[in-house]
Amino acid sequence: FVAVFDFGAQYGQLIARRVRDLHVYSEIVPCDISAEEISRMAPSAIILSGGPASVYADDAPDMDKRIFSLGIPVLGFCYGQQIMSVKLGGEVGHTEKGEYGPATITRQGTSRILDGTPDTQTVWMSHRDAVARVPEGFTVTSTTDVCPVASMEDASRNLYATQFHPEVRHTAYGKSILENFLFGVCGLEPNWTMDNIIDEKVEAIRQQVGDSKVILALSGGVDSSVVAALVHRAIGDQLTCVFVNHGMLRKGEPEMVEEVFRKQFNVPLVHVHAEERYAKLLAGVTDPEQKRRRIGTQFWKEFFSVAQKLDGVKYLAQGTIYPDIIESGARKTGGKASTIKSHHNLIPFPEGVHFDLIEPLDHFFKDEVRELGVSLGLPAKMVYRQPFPGPGLAIRIIGEVTPEKLAILKNADAIVREELDAYNERLFQETGERNSEHSCWQYFAVLPDIKSVGVMGDERTYQRPVIVRAVESSDAMTADWAKLPYDVIGQISSRIVDEVDGVNRVVYDVTPKPPATIEWE
Ligand code: XMP
Repeated sequence: FVAVFDFGAQYGQLIARRVRDLHVYSEIVPCDISAEEISRMAPSAIILSGGPASVYADDAPDMDKRIFSLGIPVLGFCYGQQIMSVKLGGEVGHTEKGEYGPATITRQGTSRILDGTPDTQTVWMSHRDAVARVPEGFTVTSTTDVCPVASMEDASRNLYATQFHPEVRHTAYGKSILENFLFGVCGLEPNWTMDNIIDEKVEAIRQQVGDSKVILALSGGVDSSVVAALVHRAIGDQLTCVFVNHGMLRKGEPEMVEEVFRKQFNVPLVHVHAEERYAKLLAGVTDPEQKRRRIGTQFWKEFFSVAQKLDGVKYLAQGTIYPDIIESGARKTGGKASTIKSHHNLIPFPEGVHFDLIEPLDHFFKDEVRELGVSLGLPAKMVYRQPFPGPGLAIRIIGEVTPEKLAILKNADAIVREELDAYNERLFQETGERNSEHSCWQYFAVLPDIKSVGVMGDERTYQRPVIVRAVESSDAMTADWAKLPYDVIGQISSRIVDEVDGVNRVVYDVTPKPPATIEWE
């Protein structure tokens, strides 16, 4: 596998994904990992990521210099090139001006990693510092007008580096550079494919679980559904899925869970009808955080009351994915890779109850989880489901949640989804991309706690408005309102007022995040 040393938030993740896109397994490790630990992990290759810091800053992320002498090929990008240089006796200085964005490099001499790429080519730069003098044994393999060492290498020691970012799509030959390193220099094979992964995971789950029983909280979301399908493939009916239906799922979702898991996969499924208990719990509650707390606490109560009744359950399977772990573990604790473990303590086990966890997705990125789901035979509708908050529609109903409001919202929301699913599908047909530039990433209806005047036929009405929210985003951290064509918005509006009783007006939310959030509560 390839160990990606992470010198700064987010940089390592993108590199790890690019390597995996080439069907080579890669893992992120903290940059200050020791040479002993790396020897023990025995990666076939190391990539040093970029980072936001200057190598000479007081709190600059550091690495163990002895790693360069382990005989493992190393490739450094940006900060990775600079730290390689400083650690091996070269020098880093300020360039006359920074270089941000596209730049043109000119190749010098031969280079194993630039092999087969043109003499001049466009790369993506983002730096102020640069290597001023390369360490002994290195040659400069490309330059730009501003940057005297755009890339360097010492092929005899298998050490390579670029000031630019090959992991960024804007670097025209970034993929070739990575391929040259992984397949040419390191001799790796592109055999990390979904079929191999499934075989491997199935085997690992069987080994770990033996003939014990496993329980899983199925939400209908992507991660828990993929875990269910995977664990079921491994151990069949030793798995029981518990689906807690709090009544605030979207229209058709409980039915889809039943259809897929009970009928198609034949998984032992306990469908907990908790709708009435939740309705009581939420009666009179208007504060959003109160809603969240009550719904979350009740969820685990419902789940454990089923789990405790089942005999011989030893394991709880969870849909923890790689970004959860990277974010909760590595960087915050600054700990070693081996100490990166997920948020086990977040599950509120009742007194005297404990299950060991299995987290078969804990090293997969979200889109890899989706690919796994497709390979396991889950329907696209489930695998490409948009994000949906745990508290469900409760936080899309402003004010108190009542059966009347829930019914309106479910119906209006179903129309929004139907129309925008179709819109996204059209974009997918045109672009071949699931999350292309204008596709909607998350879209839903919100029910505010007001009424407004309207007129239908000769009658004055006093009914509810529905807010349509549709955003473009890739990670929910920031989002922009989707620039939907007018006819699409018009179609949603007229369908909602025509088809949903109690609604006489539709409005469209045109606020980005920030300053707004995606949800209304
Ligand atoms: P906001 O509204 O903060 O949402 O822009 C960002 C993303 O998080 C989702 N979200 C939640 N997910 N429980 C969840 O599981 C919640 O309480 C919750 N609140 C917001 C939201 O749908 C969006 O994708």
